Amino acid sequence: MEEHGERLEVDPKENIVISRRSFFGSLMLIGSAGMGAILAVPVLRYVLYPLYAKSSNTVWSLIGKMEHFSDLSKPMMAPLDLKQIDGWREVDSSQTVYVTKSAEGDMKVLSSICPHMGCTIAWREGHDDFYCPCHGSVFERDGKHVSGPSPRGMDPLPNKAEDGNLLVKFEYFRENVPNREVLS
Ligand code: FES
Repeated sequence: MEEHGERLEVDPKENIVISRRSFFGSLMLIGSAGMGAILAVPVLRYVLYPLYAKSSNTVWSLIGKMEHFSDLSKPMMAPLDLKQIDGWREVDSSQTVYVTKSAEGDMKVLSSICPHMGCTIAWREGHDDFYCPCHGSVFERDGKHVSGPSPRGMDPLPNKAEDGNLLVKFEYFRENVPNREVLS
């Protein structure tokens, strides 16, 4: 059916008239809103970052038993419960880190926060590398930068073994700068 030069579809069962132009228009609107929301997350995190990170001190956090990380044939992701001391306040939050090996075979703990704009980096099983889904930065298994817009490699975190446990001091770093700069 034609109406005002626009083709209309008629559903015979429901007797509903659907305009193709308005259907595709709605689809594009939903798509744009979704893309906008995805892009807004790292941007907001980047802009607001100094506000919540600068004045906090993180204490040592437990990653897990050392024996759990004896066979590091590939990096292991570990969730962290963080306690941050900000003056008289104690703030609980959570983060994730990767326990991996350096090129020399030493244990390393890497932040999962992308140094570019703060998205969460994932380990790619088949590719044997780290990959940031936001803008496609790629890192080697020891965190070295391979390609993509990140200005440096993944951020290593201070760690130590104590009473058979692996501990980490989680730190935040300034994003999108080539030299590592600790914010807290
Ligand atoms: S946030 Fe841009 S590459 Fe990771």
